[in-house]
Parts: sequence; C-alpha cells; structure tokens
Amino acid sequence: MPVKIAPSLLAADFARLDSEISRVAEHVDWLHLDVMDGHFVPNISFGIPVIAAIRPLTDLYFDCHVMTTNPDVYVPELAEAGINLLTAHIEAIPDPSRAMKRAAEHGLDFGLVINPGTPFDAIAPYVEECSTVVVMSVEPGYGGQDFIPEVLPKIEAAREWVEKHDLGADIEVDGGITPVNAGQAISAGATVLVAGTAVFGADDPVAAVNTLRRAATTDE
Ligand code: DX5
Ligand code: ZN
Repeated sequence: MPVKIAPSLLAADFARLDSEISRVAEHVDWLHLDVMDGHFVPNISFGIPVIAAIRPLTDLYFDCHVMTTNPDVYVPELAEAGINLLTAHIEAIPDPSRAMKRAAEHGLDFGLVINPGTPFDAIAPYVEECSTVVVMSVEPGYGGQDFIPEVLPKIEAAREWVEKHDLGADIEVDGGITPVNAGQAISAGATVLVAGTAVFGADDPVAAVNTLRRAATTDE
C-alpha cells in the first residue's frame, strides 16, 4: 500500500500559512489540521475560520483532527470550511454514532482516534464505518513530543482487524514521527504518517518529506 504523508500544520509558521502550505503541497498527500479547544486537550490551536481561509490555497485532502470535547457539534461548520476528513477521539465520544451520522450527512469522511492509553478494542466495533483509524503516538495537545514506541502493537492490532474484516480503512499514526521511526510505523501496518515538527520544523520541508517517505518505505 502506498504511504501517505500528512504534514501537521501545527508546526508551520502561522504568520506565513500561504507559503508554508504551497511549498509542500505538491510533495505531500494530505494536510493534517489539529483543532484544539483548551478543554479536551490543554492547548488551543486554530479553528474553523483559519481552515476556511486556507481552503482556497490548495486542493489537498484536509484531514481534520478534532481535539474538542464535543466534536459532533462543529460538523456543519467544519464541512462548510472545506475539510474532507473529520477524525474524533473515542475518549470524547464513547458512542460515536451521532458524530458519524452527522459527518456522513455533511459529506465528510469520518475517522476515530485513540490516545496512547486507549486500547484498540475501544474503536474496533466502529472501524467498519471509518475511512481512517488514528493511533496517537503522543499524548494529544502539543507538537514536538517524542514518539511512544509502546503504541506499535496497537497499530498491528488495527492492521490485523482491517485485514481480517476486509475493510479499506487507512491507519494513521500521529505524533513524534521522524525518519527513525517512520519505517517501524509502516511495518506495523500504518498507511498514513502525520508529521509536524519533522516537516515544518525542518530547514527544507520538501527534503524532509522525501526523507520521511524514503525512510517509511525502506526501513524494516
Ligand atoms: C498533537 C497533534 C499532532 C502533532 C504532531 O496533538 O495531534 O498532529 O501536531 O506533531 P509532531 O509531528 O511534531 O509530533
Ligand atoms: Zn493531530
């Protein structure tokens, strides 16, 4: 399966979103947008107006990682702003059926996210209705943290479930991805790598994307 690279805008220079996005756009697969409410996670990032403002800059698939207490509440506004995929935390919505229904009604792909401490079993029954499953490899809230290798077996569990049930869901890994661990995440079964610091924190973000892609596909 081809690897998708999804740089996280959280690590970009917020004063220059236009040039930050355009410089990587042709070299990446998705754009990862971390929305935080200062309640579900202890940090506030950016929200709907910023997403709407950057939508005309690119045709990239907008992968919106919603770290809020009530992810289902903002589905219409996020859809209107132009996101393509809404991923919500099972820790925020133990019963995700309402959020799933609303996302579908608004033409959005839907995914579920699990924190490092949450077992894969928590989302297993819903994977069939997800286009993407997200395994957090850091505690959500901040970029620039170290990858937690203990989540690798969970990526394997997700891969096993997807294969066993013949599902098409992407498996995304989010947090602390570098060329050192990208190969491990992909070998464990991931198909999408989110990388903030490793891409936008690099002197040459395009070279960083290429290095990541190479590491993802050649490492064992
Ligand atoms: C953390 C976010 C991540 C983060 C990744 O809450 O969900 O997407 O931006 O950034 P790095 O790659 O720096 O860990
Ligand atoms: Zn994220």
